[in-house]
This record gives sequence, structure tokens and C-alpha cells, in this order.
Amino acid sequence: MSSKGSILTVDDDAVILGSLCDLLRRKGYAVTAMHSAAMAKKALGQQRFSVVLTDVNLQDGNGFELLDYVRAHYPQTTVILTTHHGTIQSAVEAIKKGAYDYLTKPTVDDDLLLTIERACRQQAMMDENRQLRRQLEHRYSLDNVISQDYKMARVFELIEAVADSKTTILMTGPSGTGKSMLARAIHYRSSRRNGPFVEVSCGALPESLLESELFGHVKGAFTGAVRDKEGKFLAANKGTLFLDEISTASPAMQVKLLRAIQEKQFEPVGSNKTVSVDVRVILATNVDLAEMVRKGQFREDLYYRINVVGLVLPPLAERTGDVPLLAERFLAYYGALHGRIKSGFTDKAMACLQKYPWPGNVRELENVVERTVLLGKGPLVDVQDLPSVIRERAETGDLRHYRGQSLKKALEGPERAILRAALEANAWNRQETAKALDINRTTLYKKMKRYGLEKEAARLGL
Ligand SMILES: Nc1ncnc2c1ncn2[C@@H]1O[C@H](COP(=O)(O)OP(=O)(O)OP(=O)(O)O)[C@@H](O)[C@H]1O
Ligand SMILES: [Mg+2]
Repeated sequence: MSSKGSILTVDDDAVILGSLCDLLRRKGYAVTAMHSAAMAKKALGQQRFSVVLTDVNLQDGNGFELLDYVRAHYPQTTVILTTHHGTIQSAVEAIKKGAYDYLTKPTVDDDLLLTIERACRQQAMMDENRQLRRQLEHRYSLDNVISQDYKMARVFELIEAVADSKTTILMTGPSGTGKSMLARAIHYRSSRRNGPFVEVSCGALPESLLESELFGHVKGAFTGAVRDKEGKFLAANKGTLFLDEISTASPAMQVKLLRAIQEKQFEPVGSNKTVSVDVRVILATNVDLAEMVRKGQFREDLYYRINVVGLVLPPLAERTGDVPLLAERFLAYYGALHGRIKSGFTDKAMACLQKYPWPGNVRELENVVERTVLLGKGPLVDVQDLPSVIRERAETGDLRHYRGQSLKKALEGPERAILRAALEANAWNRQETAKALDINRTTLYKKMKRYGLEKEAARLGL
């Protein structure tokens, strides 16, 4: 990459594109040129750019749409728009939407170069700041959220880039992967940190109550509404509202949420007075909302409105490298909390933890470690200190490959492996092996025959 910065230029006019590239290359920039929005998106996925310079009119879309896309997916990249028909309005719109600048064609070379140079310089400064900040922080963490996985690193990066904006964030991931924890981390990273952080679990309330919980109600709005009640949207004013389990919202609720999130306005139940708030909304779900949209169970417009920045948290089983990191952290934390300091895990115990598939994700690991702190015997956590499900799983191996055979059939593989291991351990001495397995010799012979182990012994000359 050139030291001056890498630029992605997008224009459907080949002549303009060519001359633009020449100019920028001559000035020492690394330039990638694309004719369409689709190709530009592809290029963005392959390489990091300092600046995207795009025309507003593209064959397959427009520059504003590309601007939104870059803001959502590559917030660290700067966007500059160019157009033939510059109007004040569109320039204002571009800047509002987060473009760095808006230039009218034909662009004056010097103006263009100056803008790009400034944008790149600003980028370099921001990069440097980020790097310095990162050096100060724990290498793998965002506040208390730790991970060394590259997918999580990408999530942390995105959070850092958008935390201090009003952007709506949607977090998707199975239960226990850290969604609630990250929502809080985002709030405390933003300039709203001194404002309230309000959490609503949408699945926990029936629809009628949820509406008044979110938007409040006025006295007499329904039976039991004996006084005015302030809703969570208002309670979160100047702060962050975290809407958990958003997939459970009913169709009617989805319409109301769309308006409240989009316009930051709503009416309390039983009132016709519109309330306006200044709230940053973060949402979480452990089901695939895109799939629900396809099935017609979730409004498409609401989905696009909330998925401005989408963070996907992978299950713990897909980042087993995080297991030791998290386990050690929880061991230190709960050791101190309960006054039972442990020095660590034995290698075997750690291997067991890494083999377990963690259906309850980080929450389950945290609970398991706390339990071992309380119940474990020695200073080190050993295999016998772990819950039996985890030990058994490590002993039997991965059962995800079990494909619904009969028990007898399913046990054949493990049984053969055990027989073979026992024979090897006893130098293929049948007498010793039978004794070790606590079966009689005839049974051992029968089983060896059934599993072709006799033939194997013969081949080995044993
Ligand atoms: N990366 C992480 N580092 C440290 N602790 C974590 C991490 N991820 C999750 N945890 C811990 O795991 C527990 C579960 O996390 P959290 O409540 O954020 O999950 P969730 O995704 O919101 O789950 P649910 O969908 O059930 O609400 C919390 O106690 C949190 O402290
Ligand atoms: Mg949660």
C-alpha cells in the first residue's frame, strides 16, 4: 500500500475514472477503480481503503447508498461524493449522512487533491490515536469483554468506531455470548455515558404491558392505570435504550417501534400528546431476524431500520481459543470474590473445557468455573473438579456425529476403540487385557473377532 493512502474510486464513466486514477497515482496514492456500486462493495470486502471517492450517479445504485453502506460496514473509511448536478440540498444531505466532503464536477484537480490529502491525513491521525489507545488497553479486551478471536476483534473494532455516535446497533448471537454485556460497554464508551442506560426485555412482557412499559401511559388509559407512568423510552432520554429479545415483538408492536426508533417520537398509551426523546437504541436477538423477515414474521422495514450496524457474536464453540482466556479470567475473579484463590487449571482439565461444546456459551463457562472455585479441592482445578457432563463429554468425544443409529450400533465405534487401546496398553496380551477390562477371556475373543481385531493382531504377529 502506498504511504499516502489507498483510494477506491467509483464512477460509471470510464473516461473520468481513468483520468482520476492517473491524477491520483501520479500523486502517490494507491488507487483501485470500479465502475459500479456492486464492484465497489466487493473491493471493500477485500482490502481496507482510506478513502472512497464515488460519483452520486452509478448504473446500479447511487453514491448515497454506497455512502450508507460504507458508514455501516467500514466506518473507518472516509467517503467523498462527486456529482455533475451539485445542489446545496444534496451537499447538505451528504454531509449529514457522514460524507467527508461533496465536490461538484468537473472537479478542479487542486481542490480534489486537497480534499483527499486532508481526508487521508485525518485518517492517519485517527489510526494513530486508535493504536495508542489500544496499547493502553488490555490487548484482547473491550472493557471487561475479552476475546482473542478474529471475529470478535472485528466486533470490537466496529464498536469502537460507532460507539460514540447515535447509530442504532443490532446484536445477534446465541444466548450467553455477551450481547447484554456489550450493550453496556457501548453505552459507557459513548458520550452518553453520564446519561441513563435502560434495559427492556421485550420477551418478558405481554404485548399490552410492553407498550405501556416502553411508551408510558396516562392515568385512566386502561383499568389499573391509576396514575401517569413514564415509559422506558423517556427514561432513557439522553442515554441508551437496550431492547433485548426484539424478535418477540408482535406485528402491532413492530409498527410502533419502527416509528419510535426512526423519529424518536411516540405517544404514551391513552394520550395524544407526542413525546420526543434523544435516545440511542441498541437491540439484541438470539434468533436470525433475516430469516424471520423472509418468513414474513418480522417487518422488513423495521429490520433494515435497526440493522444499521449489525454485530454478530459467534457461539463459544466456534472460538475455542477463547475458552482458556475466559476460564482463567473467571477463575481469578471468583477466586477473589469467594476468598478461595486458585492458581489455575491442570492441562487435562483445560483440555476437557476446550472439548466441551458449551451450549450455554460464555454464561455456562462462567457458572462452571464459579462452581469449581466453590467446590474444588486443591489449589489447581483438575478434571475431577469439573461437572460430570463436561468430563463425560471429553471421555466420549464429540457426539455431534451421532446420527440416530440404535444404541448397539452407536456403541460399536467407541467399543472397538476401547478394546484396541486396552490391547495395545497390554501388549496385545489377551489375559491381561481381559483382566484390565474386567471381562472374561471368551468375551474378549468374541469381541475381537467381531471387530476384526484378531486379524489385526495376526497381521502384527501378536
Ligand atoms: N467475551 C466475554 N468476556 C467476559 N465475559 C463475558 C463475555 N461474554 C459473555 N460474558 C459473561 O457471560 C455472561 C453472559 O453474557 P450476556 O448476559 O451478555 O449474554 P447474552 O448474549 O446477553 O445472553 P442472553 O441472550 O441469554 O441474554 C455474563 O455474565 C457476562 O459477564
Ligand atoms: Mg442478554
